[in-house]
Amino acid sequence: MSEQLIIFDTTLRDGEQSPGASMTKDEKLRIARQLERLKVDVIEAGFAASSNGDFEAVKAIADVIKDSTICSLARANDRDISLAADALAGAARARIHTFIATSALHMEKKLRMTPEQVLEQAKQAVRYARTRVADVEFSPEDGYRSDMDFLCRVVEAVIAEGATTINIPDTVGYAVPELYGQFIKTLRERVPNSDKAIWSVHCHNDLGMAVANSLAGVKIGGARQVECTINGLGERAGNCSLEEIVMAVKTRRDYFGLTVGVDTTQIVPASRMVSQTTGFVVQPNKAVVGANAFAHASGIHQDGVLKARDTYEIMRAEDVGWSANKIVLGKLSGRNAFKQRLQDLGIQMDSESEINAAFSKFKELADRKAEIFDEDILALASDESVTAEKEQYGLVSLSQRSETGERPQAAVVFTVDGKEVKGESDGNGPVDASLKAIESHVKSGAEMVLYSVNAISGSTESQGEVTVRLQHGGRVVNGVGADPDIVVASAKAYLSALNKLHSKADRVAAQG
Ligand code: KIV
Ligand code: ZN
Repeated sequence: MSEQLIIFDTTLRDGEQSPGASMTKDEKLRIARQLERLKVDVIEAGFAASSNGDFEAVKAIADVIKDSTICSLARANDRDISLAADALAGAARARIHTFIATSALHMEKKLRMTPEQVLEQAKQAVRYARTRVADVEFSPEDGYRSDMDFLCRVVEAVIAEGATTINIPDTVGYAVPELYGQFIKTLRERVPNSDKAIWSVHCHNDLGMAVANSLAGVKIGGARQVECTINGLGERAGNCSLEEIVMAVKTRRDYFGLTVGVDTTQIVPASRMVSQTTGFVVQPNKAVVGANAFAHASGIHQDGVLKARDTYEIMRAEDVGWSANKIVLGKLSGRNAFKQRLQDLGIQMDSESEINAAFSKFKELADRKAEIFDEDILALASDESVTAEKEQYGLVSLSQRSETGERPQAAVVFTVDGKEVKGESDGNGPVDASLKAIESHVKSGAEMVLYSVNAISGSTESQGEVTVRLQHGGRVVNGVGADPDIVVASAKAYLSALNKLHSKADRVAAQG
């Protein structure tokens, strides 16, 4: 019997820390449901003490998700741990993940604490966490850049206090595979009670090596938990990518000799959902989930794959959830077929009214677009006018005029707290004119730091999916909108970003 590698997903905590990726409670719950369908072992649902919103999101997820362990991050102090335990009270299986920095740099410059004080605080935190839950994970933040002797003392002490998982973060993405693997191995060999805990790896991708480092931590170091995120989402260059770790361990089982409990057919739906919710577009050549990951352009490759698939393919597209871009529904499809397709795609709508709203959006779309693909349905499910949340701004209608040699003009009607208003403007192009028309009314003063358009299903007949990133007063938010008309998609994305800008409370960052 081979051992199982524990997949700890932190999309909703470390992934969400990426500027602009913050999610609402409902968005987090929807992603948590998809992670449960994906059968990840542990879902790190958030950092309960960081804000009321995060507390409520962790609580909602803990109350609903029953198949995965639900975890909350907590700094190594009683208040954070107590709030984490309160938020997790409804969980079938709860884990508290407490952390404190152990590198000389972080202790001296950030915490302004001596190593002895850090050691004491780590012990106390784990001791208290164990009085609240049986499953306690401890992370020495910036662990990989910490002094080995000191780290061994800290880890031995927290295991003695009852930590059940020891996670060694490469917080700043400084590690290289062989050295990181050796680091974990040395720790496990030197800490006398190391066999009393499961060892975990947590790697950031600053040098593009998060997946390689994590795999080395598993293979060389003997770690049996990997912390990762869907699409590698995360601060700066991101975290270790879940889909790459899972498919590497599965595809090269001959080498790693481990099993994973993940249902890989749910990988692509999870990737689409995270990308559409956060507005972080997946690059086409991204391993496993990129649009080109299974596309063969060269004639030689196509010919080979047609004759024998394994000439050029090491994984099957359908095994990771690519449904070959099928035409799934059209204008004549009924509500039941639509509902069934939502279910097949793993989209759970909480109420009949949400399904009705989605179905009427689907009908509107089918009137304008003959072929509706899975990707269209996924985009529709993330549409803010479909989701139950009451948003401040919503698009009603848009008209624009553009002609060669003329300056484009746009008029946008939208709601502000349920009341209709109209903005008008000209602009460099129809998108610019439309967003300026909205801004002429809202006067947010936000700076646009990113605008991108992506064809959801490839051709010019497809819906355009637009991401708008706004920055204002130190906050960064992403808005996403989809429509066959990219000017309309842009207006939806802009309004969605404004909704986020105006509704989110400030949060405490985990690595502050
Ligand atoms: O990267 C890191 O150090 C973290 C810890 C909070 C576990 O995310
Ligand atoms: Zn991290």
